[in-house]
Amino acid sequence: MALLKSTKVFVCLGNITPSVGVMSARNSSWWGGVQMGPPDPILGVTEAFKRDTNPKKMNLGVGAYRDDQGKPFVLSCVRKAEALIAAKQLDKEYLPIGGLGEFTKACAQLALGADNEVLKSGRNITVQTISGTGSLRIGANFLSRFHGGSRDVYLPKPSWGNHTPIFRDAGMQLKAYRYYDPSTCGFDFNGALEDISKIPEQSVILLHACAHNPTGVDPRPEQWKEISDIVKKRNLLVFFDMAYQGFASGDIDRDAWAVRYFIEQGHNILLSQSFAKNMGLYGERVGGFSVVCKDNEEAKRVESQLKILIRPIYSNPPMNGARIATTILNTPDLRAIWLEEVHGMANRIIKMREQLAAGLKKNGSTHNWQHVIDQIGMFCFTGLKPEQVERITKEFSVYMTKDGRISMAGVSSGNVEYLAEAIHAVSK
Ligand code: LMR
Repeated sequence: MALLKSTKVFVCLGNITPSVGVMSARNSSWWGGVQMGPPDPILGVTEAFKRDTNPKKMNLGVGAYRDDQGKPFVLSCVRKAEALIAAKQLDKEYLPIGGLGEFTKACAQLALGADNEVLKSGRNITVQTISGTGSLRIGANFLSRFHGGSRDVYLPKPSWGNHTPIFRDAGMQLKAYRYYDPSTCGFDFNGALEDISKIPEQSVILLHACAHNPTGVDPRPEQWKEISDIVKKRNLLVFFDMAYQGFASGDIDRDAWAVRYFIEQGHNILLSQSFAKNMGLYGERVGGFSVVCKDNEEAKRVESQLKILIRPIYSNPPMNGARIATTILNTPDLRAIWLEEVHGMANRIIKMREQLAAGLKKNGSTHNWQHVIDQIGMFCFTGLKPEQVERITKEFSVYMTKDGRISMAGVSSGNVEYLAEAIHAVSK
């Protein structure tokens, strides 16, 4: 058989830059030039954890809530909503491109507050998304296509590991502003203000609405006010990521304070929401993306373009999780149960923080572990160095991300003492 001409193919090295490889019809594989990529910095931890046979092993990598027995937790309001939905024998038709209308309405109300002027004047557009990640990616794609101002997105340093590839893959350029101060294990307020005041006008700034991931460090209200002023002075476009509404304080309104304050101050924000954590709907992939616009007419135009963006990616979003979330948000009895359950989850985490700090002291640790108690939300940024993380995993089968972040939601009364012993052993 005649040899076919060589063909150029693009191969992707991990998820970095594509390079060109050469393939001929004689090659036994089309993908010989594809190099092995690294495991995901967060989800890869779970894969390693699963392979470990130590009965004492702990997975503190991914932020997924566990009950005090260390078991995945399905909220009772979710079970009840599922029963109500099942009884209705609903159809399985496609949702509209922007998702379930009742859901997007309830989702925006939850974030902004039901009587927000933005909602009353219809100057927001909210679409249903594939949880928080999908929402951020739709937002990033929208920015990449329509934000005339700048390609630059400023992330807090550090930020959630997935923010970088989400914006980078959408064609945006990543920049950073100071956020965390390792010397205090707290918020570097002055550093953040100084850096933000130098961001070129019209750039995008990403803010974590509450329960900052990975540090568990949030600005206080008076600090948020100063951030809002500087952001306004610099004419920056604010993109809020709110993946943990309810998880910081246990109160959904309190956790949405910064988002609502910025809107009050006239910022026309972008907003990503996730129902993975606060409703425990991880695998259902329920989220929302909102753009607050100048007026209703602008919102309509933005909506039309979001639909054009979404349609070739996944056509329209999945309905099951959105139905569950909507039923909870719109059924007063279920909503009341939900609010109590969110509070319960947040409180259990707070209790674990206290027990972990006490356990470290009991083990004789002389370090100051106050930040374990002071940080909020699902994560604790322990301050462990990469080599200590490596040791704690190797010697104690305690799994966490390399930056020393632990998911407090994976700590329970049954394993908190073991964790304290392990942290002390590698940090003394
Ligand atoms: C996390 O940071 O662990 C969570 O947001 C889950 C994820 O997708 O990374």
